[in-house]
Amino acid sequence: MLRLPGLIDPHVHLREPGAIHKEDFESGTAAALAGGFTAVLAMPNTDPPLTDALSLARAQAAARSKARCDYGLYLGGAEDNAPQVAGLAPSACGLKLYLDQTYGPLRLVETTAVWAHLRAWPKDRPLAAHAGGRSLAMVLLLAALEGRSVHVCHVSRREEILLIRAAKEKGLPVTCEVTPHHLFLTQADVPLLGSGRAEVRPRLATEQDRQALWENLKVVDCIATDHAPHTLAEKDGPQPPPGFPGLETALALMLTAVAEGRLSQEAMLRLMHSGPRCIFGLPEQEETWLEVDPDVQWEVRGEALQTRCRWSPFEGMRLRGRVRRVTLRGRLAFEDGEVLAPPGFGRDLSPAAREQRGGEGERGPT
Ligand code: NCD
Ligand code: ZN
Ligand code: ZN
Ligand code: ZN
Repeated sequence: MLRLPGLIDPHVHLREPGAIHKEDFESGTAAALAGGFTAVLAMPNTDPPLTDALSLARAQAAARSKARCDYGLYLGGAEDNAPQVAGLAPSACGLKLYLDQTYGPLRLVETTAVWAHLRAWPKDRPLAAHAGGRSLAMVLLLAALEGRSVHVCHVSRREEILLIRAAKEKGLPVTCEVTPHHLFLTQADVPLLGSGRAEVRPRLATEQDRQALWENLKVVDCIATDHAPHTLAEKDGPQPPPGFPGLETALALMLTAVAEGRLSQEAMLRLMHSGPRCIFGLPEQEETWLEVDPDVQWEVRGEALQTRCRWSPFEGMRLRGRVRRVTLRGRLAFEDGEVLAPPGFGRDLSPAAREQRGGEGERGPT
């Protein structure tokens, strides 16, 4: 049995409020624990989106009573809310800027709006961007001009990872994440998945792009699932929304890669624990660990998953490595397929919430 620290996923969509038929804080954090994640950072493209104090307060209240694992909530940048969200920074895990079209209404069209956010958001708090291609070059320049960090979400293409590599070589404070689906799937999988189910942003890329991600794994700071649940009825319907669920397959995909010698276990833990913890300034979760059977093989079956959407783009794949037990802050939270941590057990990891609890869990890295 392998003992690992609790995994951290810096990019999930828990769909609450507004679309809890897809997922909510209860089901999404159950999926997280089943997948070995003890902390998840939830994106603000909900309905309504988290763009002001009221929408944030409502999501906080729902998360407080329903989350089973620890969490943070992102605020979302709108065209006109830069000073307002900056004032709420201590209550969020970060600010998310959408520079390209994706699921939901949050999108920054004006360059001046992007710039205003990069200027107003506190320099010591995380700022994450959905930005590919030219949008990526644009946000990297603006962040450099403002002398601030930026975290690039779900890097999927060769030109993008090479641009980030070049920015890092210049000493710019840029970090990035890649998703398991961009590491393991390509355009060639689209016909197998079906075009609706294969919809995801960024789109599945070429084999060359996929290989560039693997070849530049040293440039990558973390794995993020971008767990983006939509129901099968929606994915197979006339207007399939983009997004894949991923919380319950990420660790086994990475452990399979470790078993195949494609990366070390040490590199995996950098990408799934210490990397995200460091970038997002999260506390070390005390008395928190996973017990994983690294050799057991299992087949991905959507209907066996905890996520409410109950499907997977990896359906039918045989993976190696399974979470047996999760202990979160001293409590058995998951054991052999059963989620044991109750709704409300999860804690908000934002600086303001930690301050309110009296600064627990401030221990340094282990
Ligand atoms: C995400 C969603 O469904 O919220 N979809 C996706 O394809 N990744 C939005 C996003 O992360 O861009
Ligand atoms: Zn995105
Ligand atoms: Zn996302
Ligand atoms: Zn640690």
